[in-house]
Amino acid sequence: MKVVYLSLTGKTRQFVKKLGWDFVEISKKNPVCQMEEPYIVITPTYGEQVANFFYEFIEFGENRALLKGVAGSGNRNFNTSFCSNSRELASKYGIPLLHCFENQGTDKDVQILIEKVREIG
Ligand SMILES: Cc1cc2nc3c(=O)[nH]c(=O)nc-3n(C[C@H](O)[C@H](O)[C@H](O)COP(=O)(O)O)c2cc1C
Repeated sequence: MKVVYLSLTGKTRQFVKKLGWDFVEISKKNPVCQMEEPYIVITPTYGEQVANFFYEFIEFGENRALLKGVAGSGNRNFNTSFCSNSRELASKYGIPLLHCFENQGTDKDVQILIEKVREIG
């Protein structure tokens, strides 16, 4: 499964590299592109600014129709806002919240996400 992610301090990027799947990293310089195949989003958690990046990406061209799920990277020290960006995307677009993990994730987090993606096909 293709992965679209954003990473401000490199932790989400480290996690994505461990999946071994094709990916697109979005950033200020590279905020949107037209996806040609199904994909999932993996978002770090920072609040509204990061959410807006994903809204712009998902609503670009036909990207909404190809989005199959979302996972989040966060930190449990943030309590109730743990992985809030990913939870908001799942609810706004009615897509599965596949997994939430801390920072760059563990090998177990990688396995869980791979399994969840297998389940959604
Ligand atoms: C300024 C700041 C705010 C953050 N806010 C939250 C938050 O509200 N909830 C959460 O779960 N994690 C929060 N985090 C943790 C990051 O989302 C987490 O470390 C993530 O792995 C960072 O990903 P990145 O290195 O790919 O940018 C915050 C981190 C920073 C530095």
